[in-house]
Formats: sequence, C-alpha cells, structure tokens
Amino acid sequence: MQTNTMPAAASVLVTGGAGYIGSHTCVELLQAGYRVTVLDNYCNSSPEALARVERITGKTVQRVQADIRDGAALRDALRSSQAQAVIHFAGLKAVGESVAEPLHYYDNNVLGTVRLLQAMQDCGVEQIVFSSSATVYGDPVRLPYTEDHPFAPTNPYGQTKLDVENMLRAQSRAKPHWRIALLRYFNPVGAHPSGLIGEDPQGVPNNLMPFVAQVAVGRRQSLNVWGSDYDTPDGTGVRDYIHVVDLAQGHLRALDMLQRGTGGQCTAINLGTGQGCSVLDVVQAFEQASGRKVPYQIQPRRPGDLPAYWADPSTAQRLLGWQAQRSLHDMCADTWRWQSMNPQGYASPVTA
Ligand code: NAD
Ligand code: UFG
Repeated sequence: MQTNTMPAAASVLVTGGAGYIGSHTCVELLQAGYRVTVLDNYCNSSPEALARVERITGKTVQRVQADIRDGAALRDALRSSQAQAVIHFAGLKAVGESVAEPLHYYDNNVLGTVRLLQAMQDCGVEQIVFSSSATVYGDPVRLPYTEDHPFAPTNPYGQTKLDVENMLRAQSRAKPHWRIALLRYFNPVGAHPSGLIGEDPQGVPNNLMPFVAQVAVGRRQSLNVWGSDYDTPDGTGVRDYIHVVDLAQGHLRALDMLQRGTGGQCTAINLGTGQGCSVLDVVQAFEQASGRKVPYQIQPRRPGDLPAYWADPSTAQRLLGWQAQRSLHDMCADTWRWQSMNPQGYASPVTA
C-alpha cells in the first residue's frame, strides 16, 4: 500500500508498447517500479501481448487504444497518466512496404511523431526516448558504425527514421530543456525467457530469426539464405544481433540518463553487441539451441541488402553504463522457447 511518505512512482507513456520491442520494455519498466501507460492502435500487434506483460510482472498496464496521429487522444493520455517521459516505439518498420507505400510511412512515422511532439509540448512533457535504427547509416564507409558515421539511408523507412532524428535535433536546439535519446538499434532478436512474449510477425517473416524459428517448429519447410558470395568469413550476410531483453534494459538506462540530466540534450546511442554473426552462424546456433534441423537453400542476394555491419557500442557503455549481456545461444534458446510454446504466436493458447 502506498503511504503519504512514499513518492509516487514515475509514470511513462509508451507508444507502440504492445509491439515486439515495446512489450519487452514494458516488462522491464514495470519490474523497475515505473507506472506504464501504453498507447497503441494494434495495427501490428495484439492486446494479448499486454495481458502477458501483466502476467509476467504481476502489475497493471494502462492501455489507450489510439493512433499517434490523433493529437487529442495523445494529450488525454499524457495528462491522465501524468507521464514525465515518453518512450516512442510506434511506427511502421517493413522496408519493402516502405518502398511500395512511401506516403504511408511518412504519414505514420514522421507525421505521427510531429503530432506526438506537439502533444508533449502542449502538456509540458519534455523527455523522450526514440526508436531509431542502424539503417540511418546505410552503406558503411567504415566499421564498426560509430554514432558519427555519415547518414545515407537507402529506403523510405530508413529515411523516416533520419527525418525524425533531424526533427528531434531541431526541437532540442529550440527547446534546450528538452532531454532526448535517439537509440539506434541493430538487429533485435530473441524473446522474454518466460516464453510468454516474443516477436509475432504477420504473414511470411521478412527477418532471419523469426523465419528460422518457423522452419524449426515445422511451420515452413526451409530457409532461403540470401547470398553466399559476400566478402564475409563464410560468404553470408553479417549482422549485429542483439537480445531484445538487453535492448529493453538499454531503454531503462536511457530513461534514467534523461531523468538525471546527464548525457547531453539530444544524444544518439547505438544499441548493439559489437559482434557480427553470419546467417550460417545463426542457423547453427539455432539448431544447437532447439535440437531441430533447419534445412536451408542458398539463393541469390536479396536486393538492397548490405554485406556486413555491426555496432561500436562504446557510447552506450560510457553514457548508460550498459552493455549487452546475452549471447547468440541465449537469443536462439529464448526465441525457440517462445516459438515452441506459441507456434501460432499470440493466437496460441497460453500453455504455461
Ligand atoms: P512492432 O511493429 O512490433 O511494434 C510497433 C508498435 O507500434 C505496434 O504495436 C503497432 O501496432 C504500433 N503502431 C504502429 N503505428 C502506430 C500508430 N500510427 N499509432 C499507434 N500505434 C502504432 O515493431 P518493433 O520491432 O517492436 O519496433 C518498434 C520500433 O523500433 C519501431 O519504431 C521500429 O521502426 C524500431 N526499430 C525496430 C527494429 C527491428 O528490427 N525490430 C530495428 C530498428 C528500429
Ligand atoms: N536473411 C536470409 N534469409 C531470410 C531473411 C534474412 O538469408 O529469410 C539474411 C539477410 O540477407 C541478412 C540477414 O539475414 O544478411 C539479416 O536479415 P534481416 O532481414 O533479419 O535484417 P536486416 O539486417 O536486413 O534488416 C534489419 C531490420 C530493418 C532495419 C535493418 C537495419 O529488419 O528494419 O535491420 O538496421 F532497417
């Protein structure tokens, strides 16, 4: 029971909090004692994810079903939750779809963020953690990517991330008391160790790890490995895979940095492990973690793919005191637990 002498827990509005990274971050926030309000339109997620967040934590998530382009709904949510900060995950993320429907991406990701920042300004909320991406860097001119690597996004999705970063940098220059963290994620994979929440892509997965998991569980016959003739140790593409729980914990550290006022006014931070893994490394680690075979076929390169990139994570270590803890084996073992307990994602009945 809360007594008069205890300060009220800090309150955070999480846009897109029912999604893959958002749901894992809600678990960490609730476990750290924050009050959490999720605003989501569920266009790429299920409210079931939030029920499971509550099951994992034994705590309540306030839910607002709304679109981030709805300024009135945002102001209501900010005021009723008395939020001191926003973590902004809401947005669309399918690279191919962004090429086919660029206006839809600018509308959701850029205009949606304009509406969010306006609402925050109206309500006097001046701290935001934004989900950016390593995709803002584009073709590597040097590796690992450091935060001062030149920007060259190669598709509309990546451009929307850079546009929002630029807008936040301008806001920070105009409003010096705002505190902003631009978190540039590398390749988030894995699931909560409970097996209750994880990534639940609609239709055929675009990304490697969910595809591998669906092959292992028997939902798909075999993996297409897009290219084996890259200039990498085994010829397949190399990425910096990061466990989603490590990533979620990085958000808590970033929030803490904003609240303490350390780390500058508007700061970009890579969240990766600093290690590159190839497609075949992932296949092998997944086979070991699951005890299942993952049949694959080598195919031509996927258009638009970069050969290899990984993070320099030293800024995160310096400013956040954060470093990824979980190995590729952990990422595969936790993905496998989620996939085997929920073969149809959130449409599966809870079995534990
Ligand atoms: P996700 O699709 O699982 O989660 C996004 C959430 O936002 C979903 O719950 C969706 O319903 C909600 N949403 C989308 N548009 C909305 C709108 N207009 N109004 C309200 N809610 C809306 O994606 P994720 O993997 O959890 O990614 C979260 C964020 O991180 C995104 O901004 C994404 O671009 C960014 N990111 C993801 C990756 C990745 O590989 N997963 C990499 C880099 C950056
Ligand atoms: N791959 C396969 N077969 C598949 C899927 C992927 O071989 O079925 C390979 C890709 O060619 C690449 C690697 O696995 O070498 C990783 O591919 P993903 O699609 O999982 O991830 P990407 O690095 O291509 O893209 C991710 C996010 C994007 C983001 C980008 C940059 O999905 O949203 O990282 O950070 F823009």
